[in-house]
Amino acid sequence: MTSPLQDLLDSNRRWSAAMRAEDPRFFEHLAKQQSPKYLWIGCSDSRVPATQIVDLPPGEIFVQRNVANVVSHSDLNCLSTIQFAVDILKVEHIIIVGHYGCGGVQAVLDERRLGLVDNWLRHVGDVADKHSSMLATFDLMGLRNARLCELNAIEQVANTCHTTMVMDAWERGQKLSVHAWCYSLDNGHMHDLNMHVDSRASLLPAYENALQRVTRLPTAHP
Ligand code: CO
Repeated sequence: MTSPLQDLLDSNRRWSAAMRAEDPRFFEHLAKQQSPKYLWIGCSDSRVPATQIVDLPPGEIFVQRNVANVVSHSDLNCLSTIQFAVDILKVEHIIIVGHYGCGGVQAVLDERRLGLVDNWLRHVGDVADKHSSMLATFDLMGLRNARLCELNAIEQVANTCHTTMVMDAWERGQKLSVHAWCYSLDNGHMHDLNMHVDSRASLLPAYENALQRVTRLPTAHP
């Protein structure tokens, strides 16, 4: 009996054969261990796959994805991923990757009811409330979406830095940086949001610096 997902299974076999044609020992090496340097915390959006858009092969990025790339201090899934990445894999970088046009962020701006997920998106709603006066200066909805996508990534970096795993890693002198990016679906370009935190002391200056950059952006389309 063929599987209802036969096209995907066939495509998998072709991909595996192509990878082996390029490097006959590729899977042999990968099967032994993973030693990624990066933890990617991004949106579940199907258009933002981690390794593909930074052109890295399997084995290079440890990944956590959820709707609107949220780091919540009560989400055991995300916290466990961070703990495993930091304590066991010893990743050197955690990257929070938002994306412009995020549907979760837009639902918050539109105050649209989608169901259970509204409770999850309340974390983004908190970010919007925290920066409501700044967001109000951006007149067009597209610009407001872009700014909230950026602010959300920046706030999630702060949340990540406040986790016990990251604080403990810095306390014991482990090399670890946390960064905010935002990806453009329009052209596939990644944008660095100028927030790089590599110690407890650098969190506040990096946060304020990143927020100032968002505030200085044009508030209307030229
Ligand atoms: Co999204």
